[in-house]
Amino acid sequence: GAEATVDALEPPHVRGLNDDQRAAVLAPVGATRVLAGPGSGKTHVLIGRVAHLIHELKTPPREILCITFTNKAARELRERLRDKIGDAAAREITAGTFHSVAARMLRRHGDRIPGIGRTGEFTIYDADDSKQIVQGVLVNKFGETKKTAQPGPMRNWISTSKSCVKHSVGLNGSHMLRALLDAHKPIPPMSHERFVECYDEYELGLRQANAFDFDDLLSATVAMLEMCPDVRSYYEHRWSQVLVDEFQDTSTTQYELIRKLSQPQGSVFVVGDADQAIYGWRGAEVANIRTQFDEDFKDVQT
Ligand SMILES: Nc1ncnc2c1ncn2[C@@H]1O[C@H](COP(=O)(O)OP(=O)(O)O)[C@@H](O)[C@H]1O
Ligand SMILES: [Mg+2]
Repeated sequence: GAEATVDALEPPHVRGLNDDQRAAVLAPVGATRVLAGPGSGKTHVLIGRVAHLIHELKTPPREILCITFTNKAARELRERLRDKIGDAAAREITAGTFHSVAARMLRRHGDRIPGIGRTGEFTIYDADDSKQIVQGVLVNKFGETKKTAQPGPMRNWISTSKSCVKHSVGLNGSHMLRALLDAHKPIPPMSHERFVECYDEYELGLRQANAFDFDDLLSATVAMLEMCPDVRSYYEHRWSQVLVDEFQDTSTTQYELIRKLSQPQGSVFVVGDADQAIYGWRGAEVANIRTQFDEDFKDVQT
């Protein structure tokens, strides 16, 4: 019938979508947030949106940035993009995790951050490397023995404190303790003083090793965009369209990074899990982010 004819004329990235998916893929350029259940086709919509940007709105693929959370999700995203828009275009798109995208930006421009004390050849410390540094601090500064030192909790507090602030560059241990407490993160009062000292020693250790930990990758990138207007202007032009999958998992620092990358034009398209956004373990933060998103990006399409 008539409907079948209309369907056949539709571009491939719109064909077969339900009404909600279609509305999201075709939403006007601006700030768009899609919340839907797990397995409902959110990543499918994000990929359809990329195809729409390229084929209908003539966005050069190299101006598109797609961010997700895990390496596995990033790999899957790149594969699905390739299937949808072809190998050549997919290769021009920047698609990766928050950490991989941030690391690339820092390798290129990170030495411009005032007082950062790292070169472009910095080392990336994973959770185990970080724990080693904390272990060293506990043994060398606090007289613990290698056997009894328990670096795990302290490392986690340091990491959590860094995800509670927009960026941690230039902030000392007492500031970070306040950030933890303000965010209602559990840290026993008897550990407050030690946290402050450990934090500062830990930062010194990283700096001396020309290293960033995982949290710093995000933090330093946010600081870079804040403190270096020319670098920020470069990335605003570099990526005119920012898309984020699994938005419900976004931390304060990650959100800040998205916000900085997608301004001033505010072209940002985020998809996330509606259920987790309400009941998830980071529910409070997500609620914050949802409200914040409405404030930061005018004319949000939901
Ligand atoms: N409108 C659609 N047409 C065809 N396949 C779809 C559609 N919506 C979702 N899918 C498929 O359903 C599966 C789950 O979708 P996905 O985008 O991964 O969900 P989510 O990201 O919400 O968990 C995928 O295999 C995807 O290709
Ligand atoms: Mg998905």
